[in-house]
Amino acid sequence: MRILVTGASGLLGLNLSLLMAGGQHTIVGVDRSRLSGTPFELIQADLLGPDACPRLLEAVRPAAVIHTAALANLEACEADPGTARLLNADLPGELAAACAGRSIGLVHISTDSVFDGAREGIYTEDDVPNPPGVYSATKLQGERNVLSAYPEAVVARVNFFGWSLSGKRSLSEYFYNNLSSSRPAPGFTDIWFCPIFVGDLADTLVRMLEKSLSGLYHAVGSEALTKYDFGLRIARRFGFDPGLVVPASIQDSELTARRSPNLRLSVHKLSTALGREIPGVSTGIEQFYTQATQGYPQKMRSYQQV
Ligand SMILES: NC(=O)c1ccc[n+]([C@@H]2O[C@H](COP(=O)([O-])OP(=O)(O)OC[C@H]3O[C@@H](n4cnc5c(N)ncnc54)[C@H](OP(=O)(O)O)[C@@H]3O)[C@@H](O)[C@H]2O)c1
Repeated sequence: MRILVTGASGLLGLNLSLLMAGGQHTIVGVDRSRLSGTPFELIQADLLGPDACPRLLEAVRPAAVIHTAALANLEACEADPGTARLLNADLPGELAAACAGRSIGLVHISTDSVFDGAREGIYTEDDVPNPPGVYSATKLQGERNVLSAYPEAVVARVNFFGWSLSGKRSLSEYFYNNLSSSRPAPGFTDIWFCPIFVGDLADTLVRMLEKSLSGLYHAVGSEALTKYDFGLRIARRFGFDPGLVVPASIQDSELTARRSPNLRLSVHKLSTALGREIPGVSTGIEQFYTQATQGYPQKMRSYQQV
């Protein structure tokens, strides 16, 4: 299958494209001149440019699109809600309409944080979202725009970790960077989430395409833990001092965007549809560690345009 991946320089898009390149599918990544020399084809495009979506689909003629591009920084969304709306809400709807008109498969990436986390328990796809901030509100609108323009599309709500081009995009890199330099790393004890390793997510998303799934799915990890516990697991696996992971509360943090305290999401619908278990955080951290020992972060950064 010829798969167009938007956000090819991003945490998800780059890992997905690198892991799938050379496999049974052909990857074409959409880039804004951040990358060069990648083992997959690149096409330059600003997705907010005039008629960007139809132009791109006509130029690449993919069988499917995995749409990861977004304004995914919560603080940046609070500071610039107009751009957040264009990228996170309007663009997905335009892309979905363009894919629908050409019968191109679409997996649109959304977020676990559409829920306010105000109640205990595990959220399913049937629960009513209540986004706590600009990022989550625009992402929720993006989901709705996609499914109304193209009901056969997939919307996948995710939360993931891994190595990134900048070396500081993910929560796992935040802990790694601080702990490896013997700096304390506060971790929230009052935020629960279900992170999935980006490689496991990439594999899951491609399986969703191959199975021609449609509709809304939670595509997170199968294990819930606090951000503090996640930091401890990283510390232990890499042999860093776990005492440097400092218990902290989101209430005392300087982050401006509101965060949901409970992002436990059920993956039952997805594992049933795929006929397989969705991996949890333990095997994910093992792969994150193995990639570090194999020089994957350095290899990834060698694709950064200078
Ligand atoms: N990271 C997480 O744990 C997490 C959690 C929940 C949901 N998500 C969702 O997962 C998806 C991927 O997130 P991520 O962390 O991989 O994001 P990211 O690292 O911030 O990457 C965003 C990507 O979007 C591209 N982009 C932004 N504006 C663009 C434009 N106008 N034209 C073309 N490309 C543009 C960026 O390109 P440049 O490099 O050129 O700026 C970059 O490649 C997003 O939909 C996000 O909302 C992420």
